[in-house]
Amino acid sequence: MSQHDEQRRRLLGRLSRQLAYTAPLLALVAGGAALHAAPGADPGAAAFSALDEAPLLLASYHTEAEGEAEAEAEAEAEGEAEGGDGAAVARPEGYSPAYSETGDNPQEMLARGEALYYDTSLSSNGLACASCHGSDGQDMGYNPTFEQPFPHRVAMAANQFGMSEVHADEMVQICMVAPMAAQPLEWGGEALTSLAAYMVEVQKRFAGEPHDL
Ligand code: HEC
Repeated sequence: MSQHDEQRRRLLGRLSRQLAYTAPLLALVAGGAALHAAPGADPGAAAFSALDEAPLLLASYHTEAEGEAEAEAEAEAEGEAEGGDGAAVARPEGYSPAYSETGDNPQEMLARGEALYYDTSLSSNGLACASCHGSDGQDMGYNPTFEQPFPHRVAMAANQFGMSEVHADEMVQICMVAPMAAQPLEWGGEALTSLAAYMVEVQKRFAGEPHDL
């Protein structure tokens, strides 16, 4: 098995261990796929059919990932944290980002971030950020926590990665490794910087505040 497959299976195992969280996530995944398959379809209806399929997806993922999940739980019990996900999605020590988390980022940076937001090649499962979070300014898939400026608490970050609050770039990394089933983006790289800057503006739009989009 390739290292990539292995990583993906481990992530699925991690997701499967938290059923309460996994069911809505898989509904989102399936909803994203359904929306992809039928552009112009009523998103509400797609979400409904996705909900029907979610338990099936959940069942198959769970079976596939069961072995890893158990092995991993043992490793964690022995205190052998793999230094993987938590470390990979949190800002490295002494890191200073190349975007501003209060806004006022250059328009080109925001435009690049927006392009990446629609880019399915960032993921290993055919999804783009927009598959789950909406397109054309119809922000979705966010909890009310998103009404506060970064850094703030996000349920997925706390539950899955033990992070009590996250910066915009850390949240992008979390969605890269969990729902997008991909590697984290390079810290300080153009992709992470511009996606995070874009999400800072999306946050303002979500909160009903003035923004640069
Ligand atoms: C399969 C669906 C899915 C995909 C694809 C996805 N996300 Fe998410 N995203 C979620 C879920 C689920 C949450 C967690 C919501 C929570 O816990 O409050 C989330 C949360 C977030 C948040 C935090 C909102 C807050 O409360 O601060 C941001 C920002 C975000 N995603 C950005 C992205 C970006 C950028 C991408 C693409 C790189 C992406 N997401 C891809 C499902 C997805």
